Amino acid sequence: MDKVISFVLVVFICCICTGGNGQSAAGEIPSLKTVFKEDFLVGAALNRHQVNETDPMATACIARQFNTLTPENDMKAALIHPEWGRYNFTEADKIIAFGERHQLQINAHTLIWHSQLPAFVMHMHDKDSLQRFFKDHISVIASRYDGKVYSWDVVNEALNEDGTMRKSLFQRTLGDDYVVQAFQLAGQAAPHTKLYYNDYNIERPEKRAGAVALIRKIQAAGVRIDGVGIQGHWHLGRVPLKDIEESILAYAALGIDVMFTELDISVLPDPKGVEGADVNQQKGYNNALNPYAGSLPDSVQQQLARDYENLFRLFLRYKDKIGRVTFWGVNDGDSWLNNWPVPGRTNYPLLFDRQFNPKMAFNKVIALKTGTVTK
Ligand code: XIL
Repeated sequence: MDKVISFVLVVFICCICTGGNGQSAAGEIPSLKTVFKEDFLVGAALNRHQVNETDPMATACIARQFNTLTPENDMKAALIHPEWGRYNFTEADKIIAFGERHQLQINAHTLIWHSQLPAFVMHMHDKDSLQRFFKDHISVIASRYDGKVYSWDVVNEALNEDGTMRKSLFQRTLGDDYVVQAFQLAGQAAPHTKLYYNDYNIERPEKRAGAVALIRKIQAAGVRIDGVGIQGHWHLGRVPLKDIEESILAYAALGIDVMFTELDISVLPDPKGVEGADVNQQKGYNNALNPYAGSLPDSVQQQLARDYENLFRLFLRYKDKIGRVTFWGVNDGDSWLNNWPVPGRTNYPLLFDRQFNPKMAFNKVIALKTGTVTK
């Protein structure tokens, strides 16, 4: 009987991420991390359930497909530093252990960001207190994980769409130089960790110019910055390939690594006034904004596959400049885009469907390397 149970278990695990759709061992679906091994790392943002391994299908998929992870939320200030002087490292420590257990390199996310701040910081207006928080937060957290994480998104989303500095709490209270200071403090606390600037829409020319100027300013101050993360929250049929190509070249020319750090392609209509990935924007639900609640039409599936194929073709062309490509989620079911910027929608932005089956987009991306004929 035990043997029967073991056999069933083995078959079950083998099916996971082979699509569970009857493919034999010979037809086992390829692994992104293996297929792109010589090109760049391939990763996913992981949520707390995935790190706690509550779903064996998720664990198997992550271990098979990815060689790098980014915590989706648990290293953000609100969660890791909930009160003045009190840190909660429980979940972050589990992320480190998960990475070690499954051999995933960790990109820690994120030290200084105006969103998902703890309440005690959000209401802080005097410069001395905020400066103290800023210094303690970076020093304590970056030094604790130095040598355990590969990299940090030191500053997230410091820029406006026109490339000027965002008037965030940090900018208003500490001045424009807060970004340079953040990298300086992070470099002192984490000498063995790569330090990155991360933002959305920084492939667009105006915002890109702002990011280039910001990175140059950090470098001119003699402060270390190792890379830039283009988040990559894009939209069906509108992936800005030309802007992306120009950006890879512009950032690489600064002598730093270029990464795609939060990749997803939304297939849903955008409500008016949403032009980026500002997590604070929330719009009301209506059915017209949720057209594929039941299933995804084939034509949309095909367009998504073409978009991903063209994007990865570009990534491969510039693989010598690209260090990592990270998806913002593992399968469509976990994507934040089911609830942002409109709550309660059904989106399909990733390479695996809600049952961890590889989508047409996955096959197209893989075929760029293997030349396999796919549907
Ligand atoms: C998102 C998470 O995915 C959500 O779970 C959370 O509710 C809000 O933040 N840019 C970033 C990420 O840098 O941290 C955001 O993550 C998505 C946009």
